[in-house]
Amino acid sequence: MVKKLWGGRFKKKIDSDFDKFQSSIQYDWRLAEYDIYHSMIHSLALLKMGVLKPQEEKKLNAALKEILDEIKIGQFKYNPESEDIHTEIQNRLTEKLGDLALKLHSFRSRNDQIVFDERYYCVIETVKILGLLLEVLGIFSELANKHKEDFFIGYTHTQRAQIIKFEDYLLAYYGMFVRDFERMERFLKNLEIPVGCGALAGSYIKKEAYKKAIEETIEFIIKGVNERYRDKRWFKLSENPLSDVSDRDFLIEFLSILSILQMHLSRLAEDLIIYSTKEFNFLILPEEFCTGSSLLPHKKNPDFLELLRGYTSRIYGDLVSLLTLMKGLPLAYNRDMQLDKEPLFSSVEIIKEELKILAKFIKEVKLNKKVISKVIKEDQNLYTTEVAEYLTEKGIPFLKAHEIAGKLIRFAEEKNKKIKELDNKILKRFSLNKKIISEIFNPNFVIKRRRSIDKEAENKLKALLGFKNA
Ligand code: ARG
Repeated sequence: MVKKLWGGRFKKKIDSDFDKFQSSIQYDWRLAEYDIYHSMIHSLALLKMGVLKPQEEKKLNAALKEILDEIKIGQFKYNPESEDIHTEIQNRLTEKLGDLALKLHSFRSRNDQIVFDERYYCVIETVKILGLLLEVLGIFSELANKHKEDFFIGYTHTQRAQIIKFEDYLLAYYGMFVRDFERMERFLKNLEIPVGCGALAGSYIKKEAYKKAIEETIEFIIKGVNERYRDKRWFKLSENPLSDVSDRDFLIEFLSILSILQMHLSRLAEDLIIYSTKEFNFLILPEEFCTGSSLLPHKKNPDFLELLRGYTSRIYGDLVSLLTLMKGLPLAYNRDMQLDKEPLFSSVEIIKEELKILAKFIKEVKLNKKVISKVIKEDQNLYTTEVAEYLTEKGIPFLKAHEIAGKLIRFAEEKNKKIKELDNKILKRFSLNKKIISEIFNPNFVIKRRRSIDKEAENKLKALLGFKNA
């Protein structure tokens, strides 16, 4: 059996089924790199405290770097019988260095390691997600530019409301994703990565020793983070170890942010599914992201969008899972908290995959201009708001004007006539005339009357475009 980090007080061997049940290596191997960084800081702190001799610290550091290299080139293979990633790395060091490796665990606890590892994982993954989201934002902005002159139909209550530009439709989602981007940046800026918690009550290692250890290792540790976000202030000596080892609020915050992003993705998916049905036929979806039916030969199903919408259940579920996990735990660390990892990893992996595919997908969505222009021509309801507004400009109180426009549309419907076909005598009853009607019932007029959407959000992106994915 693989050596554990505990055991002296036990007479009996652990039950093998329970051992499997309690182990986390099958998913927490993802934290290997961050666990090495914790050990690098810690071994330097031990040197400063005189617990390790310079030669010993050097050897430990070199062995840690060997394992780190394996991780970085994707060659890291863990022993599935190790209890967790901390045990795995400790055992690897012991294989390399013998008893010297056992000194590394002086005055530290896995409770301390795991919170460090998870917080640094959040940094790295947030930066990756920001990069992917930026890619999506760039494409939305390009598409909006391309469709400056194209009309689209705006809905409320899933009923036709007003003519809009397709550019504005795209920029609506763009705005949501910009807010997601900013939320994530704020999260990143506020993260802290504590060391020196011990099991719950801090440790014998002096503040100064840790401070110096952090200072000396920090450059090496954060060089993998994109420069735009690299922040040395993340790494701190824990000022409140009891609180730091007890909470997973940072994970709940992270998954909340991802849930909001997922909600936006899901709404977009729903919109595109509806608009690409035969009934709407406003948009044509790229074939390479659709699938067919094994029975119905004509089918072109929007599976990417359906999965994008469907995965919302997983992302929300992961958030609720964490909230529930934490809700009744007494201080400080409890083993329940080991179960925070699968929801975290699963949400991060799903979101990254979704954004990667969305960037390719959205570029290829085609606007069915013919259908849109037919709707704009035929549906006179789309202009009634402008009729009411015109009358308001002429001095009629808006609610009266609203009623007149409503009556006009009802009149035309009852007579089964187009408003454009009504003669001047009738139009006069509604304080209108043919000239005015032909001016108003024109999509260009409708669009031009409106203040265009504020492009502030779009400008913000321009400032971000220097950023490249780490
Ligand atoms: N695998 C554990 C987790 O993820 C690491 C911390 C273990 N601490 C302990 N006291 N058993 O939470």
